[in-house]
Amino acid sequence: MTLWKARRCTIWGDDSSPMKREREIEIASPTGFCFGVKRAIESLERRIEECGALSDGVKVYSVGMPIHNPQEVERLSKKGLKVVDRVDDIPPGSYAFVRAHGAPPSQKEELVARCGAANVTDATCPFVKNAQDKAAFLAREGYAVLVLGDPDHPEVQAIVGCAEGDAMVASSLGEVEALGRRDRLGVISQTTQKGEFLGAAASILAPLTRELRVFNTICGATTQRQEAVRRITSRVDGLIVVGGRNSANTAKLVEIARSRQCDVLWIEHAGELSQEWFAEKSNVGIAAGASTPDWLIEEVKHAIETSQVPRGMEGYDGRIYE
Ligand code: F3S
Repeated sequence: MTLWKARRCTIWGDDSSPMKREREIEIASPTGFCFGVKRAIESLERRIEECGALSDGVKVYSVGMPIHNPQEVERLSKKGLKVVDRVDDIPPGSYAFVRAHGAPPSQKEELVARCGAANVTDATCPFVKNAQDKAAFLAREGYAVLVLGDPDHPEVQAIVGCAEGDAMVASSLGEVEALGRRDRLGVISQTTQKGEFLGAAASILAPLTRELRVFNTICGATTQRQEAVRRITSRVDGLIVVGGRNSANTAKLVEIARSRQCDVLWIEHAGELSQEWFAEKSNVGIAAGASTPDWLIEEVKHAIETSQVPRGMEGYDGRIYE
């Protein structure tokens, strides 16, 4: 099954609900799993299939959620994945997994020491690795390093770790301005940031810095999904965004759609759909974050097509998880 092409279909709801009207559904294109997440999940599933279960049924350990999507993590957990908080929580000699967001070099070294190099599957996305390499390069060359992004996000923490632990992080233009004058400054971005933020930050920093190097490490997959949301919002009466509450890139899609005055319903799964939300809507769009699997998107579409939409649910309240 592929969801990458936009498609339209006409459906009817039952007689007694707001679902009762001819309605078209359009799926944003591209949407859902990006290259890096798809690659990581495939390698994790391969590893789970290859290795035998330990006594408690666990096959592979991940420090932190391997993907910011609770439903997909639950599916993988049933197959033998266990998410732990610290490397110390992994029994020595076990199989370990480094997620697409990457991990700081110190954590990777700990994993290798605890599990053995052959037992560690490193699924760091190549685009994240590029940002990590740029951070290491800038630090090596003697630049002060600035990462534009969320300081609490694991990807940013991994990038900071690659800059010999000495990078600054700014998540807003106010924080960029507050940095003041610098001699030599190197800038990179969390892969999921908006291009406008990187551009505006560079404009602020240029007059304040004697030598400024800026690497655009924003991932094309993120930009494409954001563009797809911009396009679809001009054609639909409302947009359903499917994705984890803890997914930064899903939050960005919601933010973009709302900034275009689009009525947005942010849900993690079909059970959070709301009949009331569909009232007066003839064209409904579906978009999903880069960490949302196809099967969750398909479930949402199927629930709408078959009118299996609960009454009274309101989806997510809209708070943006940065
Ligand atoms: Fe990689 Fe871009 Fe996805 S950085 S994990 S392909 S959003």
